[in-house]
Amino acid sequence: MSSGQSRFIDLHPAPADLVRLVQEGLARRPRQLPAWLLYDAEGSQLFEQICQQPEYSLTRTETALLEQQAPAMAQAMERAPAVVIEFGAGNARKVGPLLQALQPSCYAALDISSEHLRDACANLQRQHPAVAVLGVCCDYSTLAALPADPLLEHRPRLGFYPGSSLGNFTPAEAQALLRQMARLLGRDGQLLIGIDQPKAMARLEAAYNDSAGVSAAFARNLLVRLNSDLAGDFDPQAFDYQARWQAGDSRIAMALISRCDQVVNLAGAPWRFAKDEPLITEYSVKYSPGAFAQLAAAAGWSLQRSWSDPQGDLSLHLLRQADSAVAPEAHQP
Ligand code: AVI
Repeated sequence: MSSGQSRFIDLHPAPADLVRLVQEGLARRPRQLPAWLLYDAEGSQLFEQICQQPEYSLTRTETALLEQQAPAMAQAMERAPAVVIEFGAGNARKVGPLLQALQPSCYAALDISSEHLRDACANLQRQHPAVAVLGVCCDYSTLAALPADPLLEHRPRLGFYPGSSLGNFTPAEAQALLRQMARLLGRDGQLLIGIDQPKAMARLEAAYNDSAGVSAAFARNLLVRLNSDLAGDFDPQAFDYQARWQAGDSRIAMALISRCDQVVNLAGAPWRFAKDEPLITEYSVKYSPGAFAQLAAAAGWSLQRSWSDPQGDLSLHLLRQADSAVAPEAHQP
């Protein structure tokens, strides 16, 4: 039984790591920054607004699928999980039906956006007083081991990774991340993951460039964040926002395009942007069910069952570990 108050562990990357990551990203060609930088407090609010735009149906579709199918998902699990660990939990509004159906003893929400996560955990704790809620502020894609916390000792574990956020990594990074999750969840771990599918180009481009301009504001907020965190002087209006479907890579590429030749100062160094030069803010790779099953298998997971919405826009896949490929898990000291 929880004491009624959610717990919180802060493993947010240090400012020096932020400088290094941004310098590395700006030195790449094309220039590209890690997608998690989009999610400061303002960015998290803007992402919530994106999820409410008529063009961006992913969140609504996945939430409805979870509401309808959570009991069937719980039944399909080989082992009833004692702990549910959500990667990139955001506002943690999708997990409710699963907690209801599974009644785990602990729910751990991992996310990079600290304030947002604290609020989400407090709300969830109120709604599910019998579940011990733990918030972990971290870049889950580089989390080598779960924090040493008694709540996370419980087994078996279910990883929950909704929202098709796997698509925000390149396929090679996605495979490494799935392997990493396998290690964190342990050999008896299972993973329930939401994957958005390829669809008509016009629909996809509209979803990532909504007519209200929220997607554009979300991308430009990255520059505002860099200005305040790294003493930068970006003029966000000196960059146009663009979201293009790149069929060869089955992905949407989101970028800020420099409107002119300009020099931007950041963390004490000048960065020259040529007119029309892109700064990639995010990719969103879309996997067909077959392509996803292959990726998961290459990372040591085997597909148990999938659920899709009636239009076939996205799927939730339940995975369990294939017997070999998983190295023993470790705990952070
Ligand atoms: C979080 N992630 C799955 C979103 C996506 O659809 O790739 C991020 C996003 N960026 C702009 N719109 C949505």
